[in-house]
Amino acid sequence: MSALQERLTLAISIAEEAGTLIREARVNQSFSQHLKADEELVTDVDVAVDSLIKERLNEHFPEEALLSEELSPEHALHTQTAALWVVDPIDGTVNFAQGLRHVAVSIGWMENGVTKVGVVHAPFLQETFSAAKELGAYCNQQPISAAHVSSLAETLVGTGFPYQREARQALMPRLSAVLANCRDVRRNGAAALDLCDVACGRLGAYYETVSPWDFVAGWLIAREAGARVGHLGEIPEGVPADLYPNELLVAAPGIYGAMEQLLLDAR
Ligand code: IPD
Ligand code: CA
Ligand code: CA
Repeated sequence: MSALQERLTLAISIAEEAGTLIREARVNQSFSQHLKADEELVTDVDVAVDSLIKERLNEHFPEEALLSEELSPEHALHTQTAALWVVDPIDGTVNFAQGLRHVAVSIGWMENGVTKVGVVHAPFLQETFSAAKELGAYCNQQPISAAHVSSLAETLVGTGFPYQREARQALMPRLSAVLANCRDVRRNGAAALDLCDVACGRLGAYYETVSPWDFVAGWLIAREAGARVGHLGEIPEGVPADLYPNELLVAAPGIYGAMEQLLLDAR
């Protein structure tokens, strides 16, 4: 087994262990919730899962840096660390708190700014998406690939909106262009899973501005599954594209160009 494959296997087992913790917390309804800054919901399960993942990664890779939503979100985008783990302990916190099933653990690993391992585990959907650079993308160990759509009219599009309500109005022109030209829109509430849904062809495209931990793992999974990944705006100098979370667009290759134009023209 290659070193990369070993990392992937380990990341899968850590994500699945974290998933068990999330499932148990729901069964026992044993969690409290509060708002972080800017209307953002967090539960104590988010923090407990982040701690578990941190502990496991420390056992195996004590020297490697960690960027995680709840425990170490302060790492700069410009991180020059050779090896970096990027973790969202619960992607879809609002779904988790509301009893919905679109919830995921997202674990990515980057080397010199390039994502090489990605795992997105959805404990309530019983799906584990995984990819390693140049080794393909999988769901529950079965190979997956992006959709073969060739027109916007047949493209189902995923997206999301920020917690801050006042920031939502500016996103309406793009949303309205998508609704007017594409098959329909889905807002499933977990960016990591939206990316995986593009990876396995359930969605034709996904666009959103998020945070690094929301997309690093799913981005690699989508790319390895043959989806085209990119940004609608400029990437600041010195920031690795695989870590830059603004204005993401991920789409089946057949409609990426049309989707990009549609979104850029919408204002
Ligand atoms: C959120 C989800 C959601 C996206 C938000 C994210 P969280 O992550 O991925 O789909 O629209 O931008 O913040 O807070 O549930 O980890
Ligand atoms: Ca998230
Ligand atoms: Ca989260």
